[in-house]
Amino acid sequence: MKHISYLHGLPESRETRNPEDDVPREERYVPPDIREIDWNRICWEKRKQKSSPTGATAYWDKRAPAFARNSSKSDYSVKFLRLLEVKPHWTLLDVGCAAGTLAIPLAERVKRITAMDISGNMLALLRERCAKSGISNIQTVQGAWEDDWNALGIGEHDVALASRSLITEDFESALTKLDRGARKRVYVSTIVGDGPHDRRIYRALGRNLNPGPDYIYLYNLLYRMGIRANVNFISYQERNSYESPDDAYTHLSAKLEVATREEGEILRSYLKENLVCHEGKWMMSYPRKISWAVIWWDKEKA
Ligand SMILES: C[S@@+](CC[C@H](N)C(=O)[O-])C[C@H]1O[C@@H](n2cnc3c(N)ncnc32)[C@H](O)[C@@H]1O
Repeated sequence: MKHISYLHGLPESRETRNPEDDVPREERYVPPDIREIDWNRICWEKRKQKSSPTGATAYWDKRAPAFARNSSKSDYSVKFLRLLEVKPHWTLLDVGCAAGTLAIPLAERVKRITAMDISGNMLALLRERCAKSGISNIQTVQGAWEDDWNALGIGEHDVALASRSLITEDFESALTKLDRGARKRVYVSTIVGDGPHDRRIYRALGRNLNPGPDYIYLYNLLYRMGIRANVNFISYQERNSYESPDDAYTHLSAKLEVATREEGEILRSYLKENLVCHEGKWMMSYPRKISWAVIWWDKEKA
């Protein structure tokens, strides 16, 4: 890599002469101005290279039952809720709410929640949970980042959040919609490094893991959009558990979109080697640390 020459314009002398000065001017490294970098384009290019599934409606519909089961047990929601400075008078918009990972525990702590998701199955599970727990202040809306939110009747809320759900081609447009949907504060959480993806399983399947753009890309995009955001991190040991090896296979093959018989066999033998039974539940024998970034900003101070 070529060094940055900071000596432009100085008279050349033996003392100030840098060996890099022999590099023709047109070949010298010119650092880009961070404000001029098209972070939205970079996010999209990184997302296109993403090796884990793309996340169409059918994908999330299929994953809904297992996702709902595991996400409600994860340390993630407990730690995320600790970061929110929840106020009882808040109205809240939860985009990509799934079956209510956050909306369900938040329902009794805020005034009202609009829970939006692209997946009808996720929303059906959320409504079931609300009915079971007697929750009546969550309104579900089936919709996507790409939709016209006015037509969906989303409206303005005190706080808008998108937890692990910024799944789109146009990050800037999605973040703009989320920002406009909030009067007081916005929260977005996203992956740090590999996020929830298990690199070992990818390796066993002979796939490369490219997790897509992580938080630092979004942070830079927000900076370019004029939003000076705060970042907190949530880390925990993964504790996904399954009823049986078959249940683990069903969950993971849907998550990884295992399509061929050969991949299916590899996954089965991987699970045979790596699953252990603990107190009647099946889980991976190795610990895995997962980290998420929670990016947030205040509207009032912006
Ligand atoms: C990884 S889950 C996160 C769910 C929940 N917020 C959480 O933190 O557990 C991603 C959610 O985003 C939803 N989703 C995916 N693409 C979407 C889109 N384009 N617009 C809105 N929601 C989307 C999925 O259906 C899914 O429920």
